[in-house]
Amino acid sequence: AQPIRLAVIEGDGIGHEVVPEGLNVLRAALEGSGRTLEETPFDLGAGRWHRTGETLTDADMEQLAQHDAILLGAVGDPEVPSGVLERGLLLRLRFGFDHFVNLRPTRLSPGVDSPLADPGEVDFVVVREGTEGPYVGNGGAMRVGTDLEVATEVSLNTAVGVERLVRFAFDQARSRRRKLTLVHKHNVLVHAGGLWQRIVEKVAAEHPDVAVDYLHVDAATIFLVTDPSRFDVIVTDNLFGDILTDLAGAISGGIGLAASGNINPTGAFPSMFEPVHGSAPDIAGQGIADPTATVLSVAMLLDHLGLPAQAARVRTAVDADLAGRTSGAPRSTSQIGDALAAAVRSS
Ligand code: NAD
Ligand code: IPM
Ligand code: MN
Repeated sequence: AQPIRLAVIEGDGIGHEVVPEGLNVLRAALEGSGRTLEETPFDLGAGRWHRTGETLTDADMEQLAQHDAILLGAVGDPEVPSGVLERGLLLRLRFGFDHFVNLRPTRLSPGVDSPLADPGEVDFVVVREGTEGPYVGNGGAMRVGTDLEVATEVSLNTAVGVERLVRFAFDQARSRRRKLTLVHKHNVLVHAGGLWQRIVEKVAAEHPDVAVDYLHVDAATIFLVTDPSRFDVIVTDNLFGDILTDLAGAISGGIGLAASGNINPTGAFPSMFEPVHGSAPDIAGQGIADPTATVLSVAMLLDHLGLPAQAARVRTAVDADLAGRTSGAPRSTSQIGDALAAAVRSS
């Protein structure tokens, strides 16, 4: 079998700490699978920007495109103006590789503490649009810094872009509990909200076996806290999905557990797997970041590469580790990574 060509972008902050542990577990999972791993590290992030002024060049994109998948830690640094790396690196990757599905599963594993007193069964997936919405940079500013300053960020929504995402979300629902919730704000954002609603109605008609409902995004935040078990598949736009998935992480054991995949389902470009969290400058360099979100992103990567048995071993190791966490002293990033890799090897 061909080696797996994996592009590795540690990025910034705790990205340098959690990605090595993700790789640690990935290597363990591939032992005995018949597949080997060819890792290409990419120097992208604050360090490179400070040295060269570059965020992500066309040449970088060409090299990245030669890979089967990308593993990314996080980007963003307090010493770099906000947005430079987030837009110039992370969003450029998502847009350039047409990662229109931003897949963010949430599951409260047995034994994991939730801040909710009575969370019930928490097992849903947010299918977040990844290439449109208010993220496209369709905005501008005038008279910056004056009392008459004007700033706009116009949300872009296309029928093609929404429909391809919604179809993916219905497929997810069919492979799960057959329930899909559209989350938007069509009572205010009538143009974009209307487009999303009409497309969901159209695709729903082709999927009579899937139960469909709708929540305004503000109400969705209520139910995520009061009754998260009502959710199976949430389909939503780029910005709402960003906000809902940090909340989803918080209710299911913390942002240190939340995994994601930026997926191009056509296979035209490499998909990219990364924890939902950011570079966490408040804890970076201390060796205390939880690598579990990255490890679970590696499980998604294994599924994506057609290695579901290996993905399942990683998830089983994580579940066992999580179940034992309430007791014992806090462990370092590498202690958790080593424990997970050892558990995968012995499974
Ligand atoms: P953040 O996710 O980095 O941190 C929020 C809080 O969660 C912090 O208290 C942090 O210590 C904690 N946290 C995050 N990951 C953790 C982990 N693995 N283990 C334990 N605790 C963890 O969000 P932020 O503070 O809003 O953003 C910091 C920087 O990261 C900014 O530059 C932002 O733009 C960037 N960011 C990048 C991504 C990404 O690369 N995908 C995602 C979010 C934020
Ligand atoms: C995330 C992050 C990014 C987003 C930022 C850093 C561009 O918050 O991956 O959730 O908003 O998508
Ligand atoms: Mn986010």
